[in-house]
Amino acid sequence: MDIRIHPGKTIKGSINIPGDKSISHRSIMLGAIAKGITEIEGFLMGEDCLSTISCFKKMGIDIHITPEKVIVKGNGMKGLKAPESILDVGNSGTTIRLIMGILSAQNFTSVITGDSSIQKRPMDRVAIPLKEMGAKIIGKGNTTLAPLTIEGAPLKGIEYTLPVASAQVKSSIILAGIYAQEKTIITEPSLTRDHTEIMLSSFGASIGREGNKIIVNPAEELTGQKISVPGDISSAAYFIAAASILEGSDVLIKNVGVNPTRTGIIKALKEMGADISLLNERNLSGEAVADIRVRYTPLKGITLSGDIIPLMIDEIPVFAVAALFAEGKTIIKDAQELKVKESNRIAAMVTELKKMGANIEETPDGMIIEGGFNLKGASVESYNDHRIAMSLAIAALKAQGASTIINGSCTDISFPGFYGILENVITVK
Ligand code: S3P
Repeated sequence: MDIRIHPGKTIKGSINIPGDKSISHRSIMLGAIAKGITEIEGFLMGEDCLSTISCFKKMGIDIHITPEKVIVKGNGMKGLKAPESILDVGNSGTTIRLIMGILSAQNFTSVITGDSSIQKRPMDRVAIPLKEMGAKIIGKGNTTLAPLTIEGAPLKGIEYTLPVASAQVKSSIILAGIYAQEKTIITEPSLTRDHTEIMLSSFGASIGREGNKIIVNPAEELTGQKISVPGDISSAAYFIAAASILEGSDVLIKNVGVNPTRTGIIKALKEMGADISLLNERNLSGEAVADIRVRYTPLKGITLSGDIIPLMIDEIPVFAVAALFAEGKTIIKDAQELKVKESNRIAAMVTELKKMGANIEETPDGMIIEGGFNLKGASVESYNDHRIAMSLAIAALKAQGASTIINGSCTDISFPGFYGILENVITVK
C-alpha cells in the first residue's frame, strides 16, 4: 500500500515503540532449543519475527501467542524435528543466518529460503565458517545464495576471524558453536551487537569475551527463561531523528534498549549537536534500557566512519535524513555493508532523496550530504525495504508539499503501527 505523508511542524509527546527485533528473534530461537518454558514479554509482532516463529513451529516447537506474551515450549538442544516443508524466512536476514547455525548441528537435512530480497543476499559469509565446522550446505551460485539445503552433522569447534563486522554471522557461528565438540573462538574486526552472547549466558551457556574475541564453550543443555524485550532503538531512531530536525520538538521515547553496541545513532547525532538524554536507566533481562528524551536543537555536519558504523548500521538511512538538515557537509564512510541489506540502502536513499531535491551523492562506501537545502514533496520508492520507507517518511515531514511513499506499508516488517504513532505525536503545519 502507498502512504501519503504531509509536512509536519514539530513532534511532541511520549511514545512507546514495539519490541527489539534482534532480541525478539533470539528469544524464540533460544527458547526453542532450551529445556522448559520461555516466556517473552514485549515480543515484536513484526513480520520478520513472525517468520522466525513459523520456522520453529515447522520443527515441532509449540509456540503460543497471547496478547501479553509469547510462550515457547522448548524441547532441548536435540529436540527439533526435521521440517516436512521448506523453511521460509520471508524478508528476514536475521532469521535465515542465525537458524543456519542451529540447522548445521541437527541430525536432519532441511531446506531454507525467503523472499526475492533474501534470495539475493550473501549467505556465503555464514556458509563458509559453518562448513568449516562440518556442516554440508548447498545453495545457488556456489553456495552463496538461498534457497539453501543444510545437512546437519556433528560439528567441530573452530577459530574464525570474521571478514565483515556482522552480528548475524557472529551469532550463527555462536549458535553452531554451542553444539560443537570443542570450543569455538570468533574474532570480530569491530564490535557488533552482543544480544546473542547476553541471552545465551542467561540460558546457562558459557560464553566469554577477551578483547575482540568471543569464546564459545560447548553447551550440554540450555534452560528456558523469562525475557522482557525492550523497545527497539532502531525503531526509536526515526523519532529521535524527527525531533532533531523539526523545530520546537520535545519527545520522550519510553523503555528503549540502549545496549552500548546499539547506540551509535545517539552518539553520532550528539556529535552533530543534538539534545538527547537518557533517563531512568535500568537493566532488563541483562540488557541496558532507558527512556530517551530528544529536544530540537540545530545540527552541524560531521564525518561518520570506522568503528561506529556497525553500532548504528540500520540507522544510517535515517541518519542521512537528519544530515540533510544540518549546517554544512556530512560524509558517511566505511558503510559498504549497507549495499547488501534488504535493499542497496546507499543507492536507494541517494536516488529517492534526490527526487525530493536533496544535495546527496553516492560514494563507493557511503554518501556525501550537503545540508541546508530545502526538500520538496515527491513520489518515492520504498524498494519494499522497511527502513527506507520509514527514513523517507521522516524526510517527507520536512519537505514542502506532500509526498507519497510507494509501498510504504512494508514498515510492518519491523515496526507495525509506525504511521499511527507518528500521526499521534506530529503537529501538522
Ligand atoms: C542484526 C544484525 C545486523 C542488522 C540486522 C539485525 C542482528 O545485520 O543489520 O538488522 O539481529 O544480528 P548484519 O549482521 O548483517 O550487520
